[in-house]
Amino acid sequence: MKVLVIGGGGREHALAWKLAQSPRVHKVYVAPGNGGTAGDARLENIALQGESELRQWALENKIALTVVGPEAPLARGVVDEFRRFGLRVFGPTRGAAQLESSKVFSKAFMKRHGIPTAAYDSFSDPALAHAYIDRVGAPIVVKADGLAAGKGVVVALQASEAHAAVDYMLQDSAPGVAHNEGGARVVIEELLTGEEASFIVMCDGKNVLPLATSQDHKRLLDGDLGPNTGGMGAYSPAAVVTPAVHARTMREIILPTIRGMEKEGIAFTGFLYAGLMIDGSGHPKTLEFNCRLGDPEAQPILMRLKTDLLEVLLAATEPGAHGRLDEIELQWDRRTALGVVLAAHGYPLRPRRGDVVDRLPADVEDVVVFHAGTAVADDRVVTAGGRVLCVTALGDNVRQAQQRAYEVARLIHFDGMQYRGDIGHRAAKI
Ligand code: AMP
Ligand code: GLY
Repeated sequence: MKVLVIGGGGREHALAWKLAQSPRVHKVYVAPGNGGTAGDARLENIALQGESELRQWALENKIALTVVGPEAPLARGVVDEFRRFGLRVFGPTRGAAQLESSKVFSKAFMKRHGIPTAAYDSFSDPALAHAYIDRVGAPIVVKADGLAAGKGVVVALQASEAHAAVDYMLQDSAPGVAHNEGGARVVIEELLTGEEASFIVMCDGKNVLPLATSQDHKRLLDGDLGPNTGGMGAYSPAAVVTPAVHARTMREIILPTIRGMEKEGIAFTGFLYAGLMIDGSGHPKTLEFNCRLGDPEAQPILMRLKTDLLEVLLAATEPGAHGRLDEIELQWDRRTALGVVLAAHGYPLRPRRGDVVDRLPADVEDVVVFHAGTAVADDRVVTAGGRVLCVTALGDNVRQAQQRAYEVARLIHFDGMQYRGDIGHRAAKI
């Protein structure tokens, strides 16, 4: 079978790497891919971007299955487009992807279905938003309604920061913030405290299959300091998701979401990612939904997955009213996987491109260097995005996985390389 992965980040390299291991997969195409997917003989990069171009190419090349990595093509309706032409694809429709692409939609959805989340209100009128902040006071969280790569959430410890965030996000065109139909809106919500975890499941419209748990590290610097990023490293499993927290998350968050979407006529298919805040007594609340795998969470999760991913995706996309994920039982490597992101100079604000990446190690057992923002120029790997690589290692426990990942990370060099030295610190303390 020929399969297609849409996207070009670390998550997509991990998806393609895993799919290529399936005995039934003949070739994995990645659109547009990166320097890592270009360098693997089992994978091939396709320089296409638009939804209709991708659909046409998939038809002409008899692609048996497509899996979509990033949120942007999902929010633009790539799944609807592929399905309209009878192509098999794993991901949510444009309507279902609103769980991520509109914070106003997802908060109102959670309220309608009694799903635990921070108390909130939403605004399009700046005067009302400012008055609300004056009334409630800081700390408070301001979120842009639409997709906003990294600029969409301000956790304001002072009211002045919250006021400034409202002014920024409610502009007619705020750089980095995409407004949905009807114009600029913000969600203003209560600050939640506790420990975060990423809870990702696969859905076929009806059945739900949880993946292994994980924990991301959102801030740029050690000790969870500095600006927010897309994620500087992750590990799986996350000890904070105890069996009790797991059961509660399924019962109170995941299943009501899937049932609610089904009831509202926008059945969810694809990866559903609930960002959780778990308080001291083990109560999980939903910080946000994403309608895709996390990046970098996908890299450690997929390194631990022993089951053939192609078989799982075929079950999930079985033609008919819904798939047959209920027949699948996932097998996981019992070890811990931990990934350390190596980011470019200037990330997250203005990542520099074109730095030569050298001393990339050959594959070592149980360590994979997944590429993200890389490209090949004159036969050399160069930086081409903010998060450049994710060195992911398996170990018997968090400490061992951490040690192995850092041993390999330290071998790699590019000018301006930045990485955190403490990925896994919360688990290592336990
Ligand atoms: P996002 O960009 O939506 O992934 O959110 C970025 C980060 O903001 C989350 O990972 C949390 O650390 C933080 N965050 C978002 N909402 C809240 C909240 N209500 N309370 C505390 N932290 C939050
Ligand atoms: N690592 C967080 C995300 O993928 O949204």
